[in-house]
Amino acid sequence: MSRYTITTALPYANGPLHIGHLAGVYVPADVYARYLRRKGHDILLIGGSDEHGIPITIRAKKEGVTPQDIVDRYHEMMKKTFLELGISHDNYSRTTTSIHTRTAQEFFLKLYHDGKFTEEETEQYYDEKAGEFLADRYIVGTCPKCGNTNAYGDQCEKCGSTLSPDELIDPHSMLSGEKPVLKKTKHWYLPLNEYHDFISEWILNGHKNDWKPNVYGQVKSWLDDGLKPRAMTRDLDWGIPVPLEGEKGKVLYVWFDAPIGYISSTIEWAEREGKDWKPYWQDKDTKLIHFIAKDNIVFHCIIFPAMLKAHKEYILPENVPANEFLNLENDKISTSRNWAVWAHEYLEDFPGKQDTLRYVLLTNAPETKDNNFTWKDFQTKNNSELVGIFGNFINRVSVLINTYYKGVIPKLSNPSDYPELEELSKTAREISSYLEKYEFRNGLTALMNLARLGNQFLQVNEPWKTHKDNPEKTADVLFVSAQIAAYLAELSEPFIPFSSKKLLEGFNISYHSWNELEAGKEILPGGHTINQIPLLFEKIEDAAIDYQIKKLEDSKKENETTGKEAEPQKDIISWGDFEKIDLRIGTIIEAKKVEKADKLLEFKVDTGVDVRTIVSGIAESFSPEELIGKQVTVLLNLAPKKIRGIESHGMLLLTKTPEGSYSFITPDDKITDGSTVN
Ligand code: MF3
Ligand code: ZN
Repeated sequence: MSRYTITTALPYANGPLHIGHLAGVYVPADVYARYLRRKGHDILLIGGSDEHGIPITIRAKKEGVTPQDIVDRYHEMMKKTFLELGISHDNYSRTTTSIHTRTAQEFFLKLYHDGKFTEEETEQYYDEKAGEFLADRYIVGTCPKCGNTNAYGDQCEKCGSTLSPDELIDPHSMLSGEKPVLKKTKHWYLPLNEYHDFISEWILNGHKNDWKPNVYGQVKSWLDDGLKPRAMTRDLDWGIPVPLEGEKGKVLYVWFDAPIGYISSTIEWAEREGKDWKPYWQDKDTKLIHFIAKDNIVFHCIIFPAMLKAHKEYILPENVPANEFLNLENDKISTSRNWAVWAHEYLEDFPGKQDTLRYVLLTNAPETKDNNFTWKDFQTKNNSELVGIFGNFINRVSVLINTYYKGVIPKLSNPSDYPELEELSKTAREISSYLEKYEFRNGLTALMNLARLGNQFLQVNEPWKTHKDNPEKTADVLFVSAQIAAYLAELSEPFIPFSSKKLLEGFNISYHSWNELEAGKEILPGGHTINQIPLLFEKIEDAAIDYQIKKLEDSKKENETTGKEAEPQKDIISWGDFEKIDLRIGTIIEAKKVEKADKLLEFKVDTGVDVRTIVSGIAESFSPEELIGKQVTVLLNLAPKKIRGIESHGMLLLTKTPEGSYSFITPDDKITDGSTVN
C-alpha cells in the first residue's frame, strides 16, 4: 500500500467552472483517485479555490463589488459543482482561510530566515493619481507587435504575445487613465537561476521517460531559456500580507501562496479528521501528483518545486500529468465571450446525467493534444455508446435473469467452455495499466470493450433460443453474462460513479477491491439474488441538443451586439479633444441615390446652423424616400471631402446591426435641429 497526495489545480474564484476545467483537470484526477482508492492505497484528493491574484480584483472592479464578494460567490458555486459531479475531493478549501494565511506566511518566513530570498529594490510602475503600484495587468497600451490599442502590460490578447509594461506604446493605468511612472519598491525574489541544475537533474534526467512529453518539453524549454529570479511579493492590497515588520501594502505573490493552498487544504482536512498532515507532504514514500492544465506547467514543475526544495522539509511531485486544452465546437473556450458549456448550467439542463458528461469528457480528454467537444458528439456518445452498448447489455442481462430465474443467478456447470471469463480480470488489469500511465481515454475504451464483448456473447449464444431445450447451456450463458455485467458495474466506478453505484445496488453486492477484480474473483456466485436493476442511461433527443446549440449561437450573437468581443478601446483622448467635436441633431430634408455608385446616398440635412450636403455610404440599407424627415446625429465640423465629385460637409452617425445593416443614431424624442450632442 502506498500513500498518494493528489492535487487538483485551485481554480480562480472569479467565474464558474466550464467543461474545459473539468476535462483537463478534475474528471481525470477524480478517476485516478477513485481507482487508487479501490486499489487499497491511502489517497488524499485535495482541492480548493484560488482566491487571490489579479483575476479576482479585476473581476471585482468590473462588477463594482469587493474582491471578497467575488470569491465568496464563486467559491460556493464551484464547490457545489464539484460535489454534484462526483469529484471526490477529500477536502475542498479556499485560500482566504486563516489556516492558509498562517501556512503561507510560515512558509515565507522559513525561506526568509534561511536566506533563500534575495531582497531587491527595483522600479515598478505606479499610478500617482490612484496612489497604487500597478500590476502588469493594470497597465494598458498599444501592442508593439500588432498595434492592438488595448494590450495589457503582461500580454496582448489579440496577437497572443507575452509583453512587459515597458514594451507598451503609450501605456496608461487602468485605474485612472494616467500615464504610470516608475517608482522604487522593495521585493523578495526567489533566485530560480540557482535551481537550474536541481530542476534539470530531477526532471530532465530523472523523468525523461515517465512524464508526459508535453510537460517534459515545456520544462526543457524554460530551462534552455535560462531561469531568472522571480519576485515572491507584490505591492497590492488583495492577498496575504507579507509577514515582516513594517512592510505595509505588500502581499505574497499569488503563485507563491496558491500552491501552498494544497498544503493548507491538507492541514484543514487533517484537523477535521484527527489525522497527521505531515506524512502527506513530507514522507519520502508519499507520491505527490499534481493534476493541472498546460498553462500551469511552469508553476508546478519549476517554481513550486524550487520553493519546496528551498524549504527542505517537503517532498517533490512524483508526476505532473498536465493536459492540453479542450475546445468547444471547434472554437477556443472563452469566458469573456461566453463561449463555454458552464458546468452548473449543464447540471440544471441535464439533471441526473452527470455520468454522461464525465464519460464524454473522458473520451475527449485533451491528453496529448487540444481536443474538441461538440454537442452532436455528446449526443452520439450518449445514445450509441452509453445507451446502445453499456446500458443495453446490462439491461438485457437483467431482464433475462429476472424472467428466466426470478432474479437468482444460475449455477455454472462447464466453466472451461467460457474463455470470456478470462476477460474479466484481464479488463481489470488493462484498465489499471492505462490509469497508472494517466491514459484515461484508453482506460475507458478497455471498459467499453468489455461491454461490447458482453453484447456479442449474448448475440452469439442466444439464450432466448436455447432456454427451452437446453437449460444447462442457458444457465451457463447467463451466469457468464451476469459476471460480465457485475464486473462492468465494479470497473466503471472510477469513470461513471453514479451509474456504478446504482448497478451495485441492483446486483445486491458491495464493492470489491480492485486487486480482487484483477485476480478474477467471482463476485456474483450462483444462487445469489439480485434486485431490480434500474435503467442507467436514456436517449438524449435532438430537441435537447438543438437547445444547447441555440444557446451557444445566441451567445455568439450577443457578443456581436453587446460588443463583448468589440473592437478594443482606442487611445484615451483628453476632455479638450472631445470638446473639439461638434455633434448636432439635424433633419434629413432631401435624399437621393448617387449615380453610378451603388452604395452612396446624397442628403440635404437641416442642421439648425445651415442646410448642407452630406454623402453617406448606406444605400444598401435604406431607400432614399424612407429617410426624408428623419432626425439624425451629425458630425458638423469634419473637414469637407469630395466623394464622387460631390462635396460632403460632415458625417451622419450610424452603427451596424448584428445582421450587418446600418442603423441611425437618432434621438428618442423630437428635438430642435441644431441641438448639441455631448
Ligand atoms: N488559479 C490558477 C489557475 O486557474 C491555478 C492555481 S494552481 C495552484 O490557473 F497551484 F496554484 F494552486
Ligand atoms: Zn498584439
